[in-house]
Amino acid sequence: MAANKKLLILAGDGIGPEVMREVGRLIDWFAKRRAVGFDVSQGLVGGCAYDKEGVPLTDATMAAAMAADAVLLGAVGGPKWDNLPFEKKPERGLLRLRKDMELFANLRPAIVFGPLADASTLKRELVEGLDMLIVRELTGGVYFGSPRGIETLPDGTRRGINTQVYTTPEIDRVARVAFDLARLRGKRVCSVEKANVMESGLLWREEVQKLHDASYSDIDLSHMYADNCAMQLVRQPKQFDVIVTDNLFGDLLSDCAAMLTGSLGMLPSASLGAADATGRRRALYEPVHGSAPDIAGKDLANPLATILSFAMMLRYSFDLGEDATLVEKAVAAALDRGYRTGDIMTPGATRVSTTGMGDAVLKELDRLAA
Ligand code: IPM
Ligand code: MG
Repeated sequence: MAANKKLLILAGDGIGPEVMREVGRLIDWFAKRRAVGFDVSQGLVGGCAYDKEGVPLTDATMAAAMAADAVLLGAVGGPKWDNLPFEKKPERGLLRLRKDMELFANLRPAIVFGPLADASTLKRELVEGLDMLIVRELTGGVYFGSPRGIETLPDGTRRGINTQVYTTPEIDRVARVAFDLARLRGKRVCSVEKANVMESGLLWREEVQKLHDASYSDIDLSHMYADNCAMQLVRQPKQFDVIVTDNLFGDLLSDCAAMLTGSLGMLPSASLGAADATGRRRALYEPVHGSAPDIAGKDLANPLATILSFAMMLRYSFDLGEDATLVEKAVAAALDRGYRTGDIMTPGATRVSTTGMGDAVLKELDRLAA
């Protein structure tokens, strides 16, 4: 057996630890049944890190993340920490991980599992069979641009400032990821910005088009304004294959796409850096949902987004596509058998807890591997 892969788990706040516990059980299963071994270490991020260590992410945890082959993260944040100064907020821990690990490409698939088509707030025929991917730029744009801050003007009024900024290499590298992934899917990319009002958006559009014409003319490229995209996502989501967009629009549109699938509790994500000489990419995997403080600690949360994030990790960081598919099949099978956490509950289905859903997935893994 090859050397174990180093996996850092940062469960974080709220429901993070509960949903991550179910992934822990999957890791044990893979070690036992598939001889897929991980050296797992744990660390703190977010509010729990602030409470214990005074900052949302310590340098030591940051260094551990840099050294890991992959990082799995639960969720950060909660009302308890809402009034902290900006640099101490739980979210800063996550943003620092993204920035320092240079995870510029955030993959957010929105897939509707057949039995969940009725859990969507949209009509079944609009979402049934939906399989799209949002590639969100993650280390640039208004999230990180400077100047930023809140200042008091001479007349005593205050001004809040953030800067939307993109350079050609930043656009180019994330667009490449989108085009490469489109080649493995439906070969269509829709690039989304506000080129009608923002210079950074105009540059985005021009650079994506240039890259397309130079290297990806086999891909069907379209451009869309972000507001229209939001509308099209709820009007006719199946028109999309891969969407590539900036950090802020990607944040908004991926929440919107998530809801098409019935629940934020279903959506995994991968955040990837550039490949080094050996082909290794820094990577962080996390559910799209947040820490859901209202249901934390009650064994109610849906662990599937985190379990599916684990599957993405197997595929993208460790080239274990077969094992990733096994996890995805087990999730689909558990849903087929009617198991539902509260967020995706429909009449006639069997309501289960977080642990109960973990049990159901493990049982399906046993069946599939038998
Ligand atoms: C997300 C979240 C984060 C973001 C927050 C928690 C900082 O909404 O991952 O989509 O805005 O990027
Ligand atoms: Mg978000």
